Amino acid sequence: MQVRNIIDKLYNTTNASREELLFLLDNLSEENKEYLIEKSHEVALKNYGNNIYIRGLIEFTNHCIRDCRYCGIRKSNDKADRYRLTVEEILECADIGDRLGYKTYVLQGGEDPYFTDEKMVEIIKKIKEKYPNNAITLSLGERSYKSYELMFNAGADRYLLRHETASRRLYESLHPNSKFENRIQCLRNLKEIGYQIGAGFMVGLPNQNNSDLVEDLIFLKELNPHMCGIGPFIPHKDTPLANEEGGTLEKTTTMLALIRLMLPKILLPATTALGSIDPLGREKGLKAGGNVVMPNLSPTSVREKYSLYDGKICTGDEAAECRACIERRINNAGFNLEITRGDSLVLSDKEREKINNKLINNKNNEIRLDNIFLIN
Ligand code: 5AD
Ligand code: FES
Repeated sequence: MQVRNIIDKLYNTTNASREELLFLLDNLSEENKEYLIEKSHEVALKNYGNNIYIRGLIEFTNHCIRDCRYCGIRKSNDKADRYRLTVEEILECADIGDRLGYKTYVLQGGEDPYFTDEKMVEIIKKIKEKYPNNAITLSLGERSYKSYELMFNAGADRYLLRHETASRRLYESLHPNSKFENRIQCLRNLKEIGYQIGAGFMVGLPNQNNSDLVEDLIFLKELNPHMCGIGPFIPHKDTPLANEEGGTLEKTTTMLALIRLMLPKILLPATTALGSIDPLGREKGLKAGGNVVMPNLSPTSVREKYSLYDGKICTGDEAAECRACIERRINNAGFNLEITRGDSLVLSDKEREKINNKLINNKNNEIRLDNIFLIN
């Protein structure tokens, strides 16, 4: 077996066996890493051109009933300063976001029972009434089928639910009150209901080995999500994993590049966590096949409080500053910022037609489903 042949095989067929993927991760030299990045960049260019999509992230609650051992807003962390945004505050974020050119909002929070289905439906409907052409992405963790369905019917378009790790052993050691099967079932339910879904995982978790990362790749290939958020694990001082080592930029960009080769049309964010461990982390993520960034739209008064890991960037910056900063960074890295909803190319023709019809029926419509049709 030769690493370069495996990279070529991935590039040409989007497939490789478990053994080949493991061999690649175990034996990737500097030179082959460069080749891998080159190939993944080429695939991103072929599918999405030079364009990077932006999403505005609204972190609306840091209350959480889960106790994930890595996460700074876990239930047991009594040092976390808890907050919830009001409906009005969330709508204000949406207003600012729209003015700054964000056509997608990501509503992210801990698993907070205060935000019942009724409350979420109200928020989604209010945003959609005002901004019918902007996409709403939810990231609220595990909920029932019925709940996902109600929110979808209220107008939510997408849902991010990282699987965190596809290794059951690792998953169970990190999540004292959450079941691996349920997490996976939630992803399948979301897909069935009609959401564009985002899975994802952390790189460099304590006790995670290359075989575990291969499981993540195989799992993603099988699930075929529209998006995949991956970032390095970063220890948080008030969690049981405070003294563990974090994930590296090198390993994270390797995983990004492999995902781009295996799922060429996927939406792949260069995450805030990656930008937090290296001043040019996000840029390096984009060069490794990434094509999405998610700057923060939350009010600065709560930024510090949404502390999932230590050293998170952008906690003191106004939304407008992040917006300007990200554009500069994208341009400096040689990419073009794309101001559209940024729907996934993983969507089937039928799904795309459905979205376009919905958009055409909206009043004041100027936005079509990106320029997907031009690209294809
Ligand atoms: N380091 C890196 N990423 C983290 N997340 C939570 N805690 C950490 C951490 N300590 C990630 C999880 C979650 C997402 C919102 O943030 O993957 O799904
Ligand atoms: Fe927030 Fe650069 S993206 S300051």
